[in-house]
Amino acid sequence: GNLHLTIVKNDEEMSQAAAELVLGQLAQRPNSVLGLATGGTPIGMYRQLCRNKADLSKATTFNLDEYYALPRHHPQSFFQFMKEHVYNPLTPLSYDIPNGEAANVEQECTRYETAIGRAGGIDLQVLGVGRNGHIGFNEPGTSFSSRTRLVALKRETVEDNARFFGDVGLVPTQAITMGIGTILEAKAILLLVSGTVKEEALYQLLYGDISPEVPVTALRLHPAVRVIADEEAASLL
Ligand code: GLP
Repeated sequence: GNLHLTIVKNDEEMSQAAAELVLGQLAQRPNSVLGLATGGTPIGMYRQLCRNKADLSKATTFNLDEYYALPRHHPQSFFQFMKEHVYNPLTPLSYDIPNGEAANVEQECTRYETAIGRAGGIDLQVLGVGRNGHIGFNEPGTSFSSRTRLVALKRETVEDNARFFGDVGLVPTQAITMGIGTILEAKAILLLVSGTVKEEALYQLLYGDISPEVPVTALRLHPAVRVIADEEAASLL
């Protein structure tokens, strides 16, 4: 693969560098199809995009994942996160995110894959990584050829996301996520890694065996990956 790593001082510099890359993508192709991520890591990048008045008026966005079965209007749904950080302030031409309330989940997953295909595929996929190396909600053990589907979350992932819900018992234990196969079809990938809790995941990405046991290592099979990590995340390198 072709993995390009940049180490910056802190989360703020990571966010700036990431926003510049996205702005560059939009400048090159205003009608870009962007794959977007939720979580704490990309928030600074979205702020920078807002500050720079990024023009998404011709762009389409897809999200990696959504909790199941969480109502769309629940404050911690990824849909609400996206509304707050992207859909409202940046008003993309069109956006899509898995529907965590779908009655027929299988049908929803097929719909989502089809929608990505109809849009022409994802030009640039923004990714974070979980402490255990998960991407999207593809937990350790996920096949690299997996597609969008319903998954069960690992205990550590539920615990890590408890900070957003206040109580671990309120965190959904399932999600609809793009598969690793879906993610690897993006033409380019931008992975953001920030903070000490991610140091092992970043180390594994660079030096570990390429293995479904550490889903992020699948990125080494992709031809165009940019990794922007802060010094804390890079402390084991
Ligand atoms: C979440 C999301 C991932 C995200 C990861 C890290 O569970 N499903 O897409 O990359 O965990 O989250 P954070 O950026 O908050 O550390």
